[in-house]
Amino acid sequence: MHIFHGTAFSSKSKTEIDILENHIFCVDANGMIEKIISPKDAEYQEFLDSYQHDENFHRLDEGTFFLPGFIDLHVHAAQWAQSGTALDLPLYDWLNTYTFPIESKFADLDFAQKVYTQVVKQLLANGTTTALYFATIHKEASVLLAEICAEKGQRGLVGKVVMDDHEQNPDYYRDATTKDALADTEQFIIDVKELAKDVKQGVYPVVTPRFIPSCTDESLKGLGELAAKYDTHIQSHCSESDWAHQYVKDRFGKNDAFALHDFGLLQDKAVMAHSNFLEEADQDLFIQTGTAVAHCLISNAYFANSALPLKAFSEKGMEIGLGSDISGGFSPSLFDNVRQAVISSRMLEDGVNPSLEAEHRGVPNSRITINEAFYFATAGGGESLSLPIGKIAEGYTWDVQIIDTQLKTAPLPIFNAEDFIDTFQKIMYLTRPEHIREVWVQGEKVHQRTNEV
Ligand code: GUN
Ligand code: FE
Repeated sequence: MHIFHGTAFSSKSKTEIDILENHIFCVDANGMIEKIISPKDAEYQEFLDSYQHDENFHRLDEGTFFLPGFIDLHVHAAQWAQSGTALDLPLYDWLNTYTFPIESKFADLDFAQKVYTQVVKQLLANGTTTALYFATIHKEASVLLAEICAEKGQRGLVGKVVMDDHEQNPDYYRDATTKDALADTEQFIIDVKELAKDVKQGVYPVVTPRFIPSCTDESLKGLGELAAKYDTHIQSHCSESDWAHQYVKDRFGKNDAFALHDFGLLQDKAVMAHSNFLEEADQDLFIQTGTAVAHCLISNAYFANSALPLKAFSEKGMEIGLGSDISGGFSPSLFDNVRQAVISSRMLEDGVNPSLEAEHRGVPNSRITINEAFYFATAGGGESLSLPIGKIAEGYTWDVQIIDTQLKTAPLPIFNAEDFIDTFQKIMYLTRPEHIREVWVQGEKVHQRTNEV
């Protein structure tokens, strides 16, 4: 058992932050938060007296805080190799010009090892304790990504990508046949489930049709059946851009959401990236099936031709988390994405075209607060994946990041330390990777900042 002592921030609701000031957190051998003791509890002092000299007792320094680890609901691990570049073309051209060529290189396991090791370490160093990954079409390299997550201590949900349509995909980067795509996916699921038996924090296989335009009807149907057979998570892209949304309408005469549903691809453990163009009935279908949206606001600014009506979707009761969408989104940090979630929502509310009258410029009641953005990056992600993660609360995993606000070279501007809400907001807006002192997943330390000063 590990015992931690300090002040933690966690979501109480979508809009409210729980401030657990100087609490004691008891973490059991499985890495679960077994008990949280408040200074108001009768046993508090006695507990401190008996445990504080144990080697497994961890007391936070002044000016450091616990936050739940972030949950990144949409990362293309292979695209890390081109992050920060190639953002000048619309989605269809971007995929064909830059992205399919780079993903095709993951047939080479040495290259895969280098890129995947770096992206998993980067995400951990940025406070991301759980990530829902797209790998590539290559079965071996996809298993390797799951192995790297297992070894580095990150909770990884990993998908071997399926792209079997001969007309839509280039010859150099697609599944050879539909039969191969399904057989490789099934073997991938079996291999990752086998690997998971020895992984404390969990690794999970994910059924991953890239998006409808990449896949034949047969593979979509087969993938829905595999997800049901093995009870796996499912991920894809849904109604992302004008082009992608229209493509599905033209092919099936219905919207993406209903087409995916017909193939058994919407369910409680399904996470659909983007989903900007969901119409009313699509939104209801997501809610009814328990399907979650991975909101990828940085990527949306480049590829989605729109801003997601996040507030409206959330108020309707849809499950929502945040995704970096590396490399459509360039940043490996969910702090950056939390900030942009607020900014994008403000721009949607006010509108951006100054030549329009104010009342015609935006979409009223669209803004979200920083507390809500934090919720989506943590608790919302946990709900979306149907896992007990994303909160610092009893019964949840001990997945935390320890934020050091007093780093000598870059202290945060905290001059009224009594005001914890003020501190929380400054942490959300100003934290950089160097402020993240330690990261823990399932009760194990998986990252320690090395540039101590
Ligand atoms: N749609 C299909 N593939 C992709 C991808 O890799 N990134 C994004 N943003 N959208 C996609
Ligand atoms: Fe994506």
